[in-house]
Amino acid sequence: MIKTKMKDHNCGELNLDNINEEVTLSGWVSTVRDLGGILFIELRDRTGFFQLVANPQINPDVHKVFEKVRSEYVITVKGKVTRRPEETYNEKYATGQVEMYPEFVEILSEAKTLPFVLDDENVSEDVRLKYRYLDIRREGMLKNLTLRHKICHAARNYFNNEGFLEVETPILNKTTPEGARDYLVPSRVQEGKFYALPQSPQIFKQLLMVGGIERYYQIAKCFRDEDLRADRQPEFTQIDIEMSFVEQQDVIKMVEGLIVETFKAAGVEVKPPFIQMPWQEAMDRFGSDKPDTRFGLELFDIGDIILESEFEIVKKTLQNGGIVRGIRIPGGAKFSRKDIDDITKLAVSFGAKALANIIYNEDGTAKSPVLKFVTEEQAKQIQERAQAQAGDIIFFVADKPQLVYDIMGRLRLHFGKTLNLIDENKHNLLWIVDFPMFEWSEEEQRYKAMHHPFTSPCIDDLDKLKSGDLGNVKSIAYDIVYNGTELGGGSVRIHSSEVQSAVFAALGLTQEEAVEKFGFMVNALQYGTPPHAGLAIGLDRLVALLARCDSIRDVIAFPKNSGAKDLMSDAPGEASLQQLRELHIKSTAHLGK
Ligand code: AMO
Ligand code: AMP
Repeated sequence: MIKTKMKDHNCGELNLDNINEEVTLSGWVSTVRDLGGILFIELRDRTGFFQLVANPQINPDVHKVFEKVRSEYVITVKGKVTRRPEETYNEKYATGQVEMYPEFVEILSEAKTLPFVLDDENVSEDVRLKYRYLDIRREGMLKNLTLRHKICHAARNYFNNEGFLEVETPILNKTTPEGARDYLVPSRVQEGKFYALPQSPQIFKQLLMVGGIERYYQIAKCFRDEDLRADRQPEFTQIDIEMSFVEQQDVIKMVEGLIVETFKAAGVEVKPPFIQMPWQEAMDRFGSDKPDTRFGLELFDIGDIILESEFEIVKKTLQNGGIVRGIRIPGGAKFSRKDIDDITKLAVSFGAKALANIIYNEDGTAKSPVLKFVTEEQAKQIQERAQAQAGDIIFFVADKPQLVYDIMGRLRLHFGKTLNLIDENKHNLLWIVDFPMFEWSEEEQRYKAMHHPFTSPCIDDLDKLKSGDLGNVKSIAYDIVYNGTELGGGSVRIHSSEVQSAVFAALGLTQEEAVEKFGFMVNALQYGTPPHAGLAIGLDRLVALLARCDSIRDVIAFPKNSGAKDLMSDAPGEASLQQLRELHIKSTAHLGK
């Protein structure tokens, strides 16, 4: 840190090399202790702690001031660094062998009693967020923010060395369909019009490619009005990139380099290339497009066996386009009736109508209500498919594919956690590739873009796109997954206006709507567009995982709570009638409703 007259050394950096040096320190009083009339202060700054001593016999003026000092006062002191008596060395601190009897002290700022004790681990998150400026004084928060800084620094260094330009893109934009809900900002000068905050710089980074920038990056703020979870915030940050004249594998390689450097900043070594797993394989084996591959319990398919059986209810599901997937829990035969009921209830809470099970007893017999629907031979085939041994249990669900994957994927994670199968020291990174281009929305009864509407379909699937066989069109999209979390995603983009129009049409946008919503984008594609591709990593998620935090809130200086509220500033707040009038807005809240 820069040295100033008020602070020419840092608390945490002094050691035996500084003995007899005259230094000026400034910081916060962490603790004041009175040992037989001698006062000891633990002075804290960003770098660590340093012990100050005031003895009424040795430095009486300073002692008088120390008597007034309380926890979290800000003070400045001047004096010589001295060696502590050896028997008082404190191994806890790097500076534990030195101290100072200041010749001068000044109180720079007093402090009221804090609403919580800084090193108390049990303070509620609400209180921490309300007094975030105090929470940031805690060692854990400082560590997280420091790691975040180091990761950003590593990312910037990496891109700068690879010839990328950092370009800022606008925050006040036009709302576009698809994706999450937008945050809107009313326009004062254009009555009745709204800006939308960017959900990502997607369109702009593509336009930068049309503009010839070739390699772009930005550590970009994004805004999405979604339902919040521990790994989602209404405003979050992406490490965003876009490259011209590249194919999928070029982006993958570039991002693998970025992952190596950012992980290194957190002291973690990882070695590319990472596995590239097709989306369908991930769903079939793990029931998830962000599989946690740190443990096994892979799913299996018994659809073909059931179709030959008399298990009519499940057969009907399969004949109507459903699938069946099972999971084997080694040693699960010892689950009690209640355990199995609880697991079934959990599956039902995930959306299952039923969860079937077969218990393979230690004596070699099998027990299950479903065995009455299958022959002995089929029962054996099921056991073989499940690779079930005596002492195991299997569970399976039949339903629509998306639902079965979701239920079984979540059950698998549940067992991984509750049976302690996850090795926390592993750093499993993998790519999910070959995503479907569209996914069916039950809610809207239409196909939606799985990534975004600028993602390129696989060239081989263009005919299916045009003939309307949308469920079978694959896209050139890729996600990077780390220990079961989606860290980032990207795609090769469409660079032909003809293909772009076909995709808009498939999404049910008329030509007029497409021009109205994305006109500038459609236009831009007509003026010489380089083939281009990119990706964005969720910075908050990356830092949280590397800091081993459960919530991304812990790596954001001033986050929102799960109600999208800032408990410290109380945002969102009310606007005055005058402000609303200027914005041409009538609020029912102001009418007392
Ligand atoms: P995508 O929507 O997959 O892609 O977002 C990229 C990454 O951003 C992170 N992320 C979030 N983090 C915290 N809170 C949220 N609400 C949130 N939403 C997303 C995730 C995610 O993997 N423009 C494309 C990228 C591209 O195609 O280049 C995009 O935004 O880690
Ligand atoms: P029932 O004849 O309704 O008692 O069902 C017989 C067995 O089939 C029960 O063990 C159910 O758990 C199982 N079962 C019914 N529907 C499904 C389904 N969709 N997926 C898995 N198992 C099912």
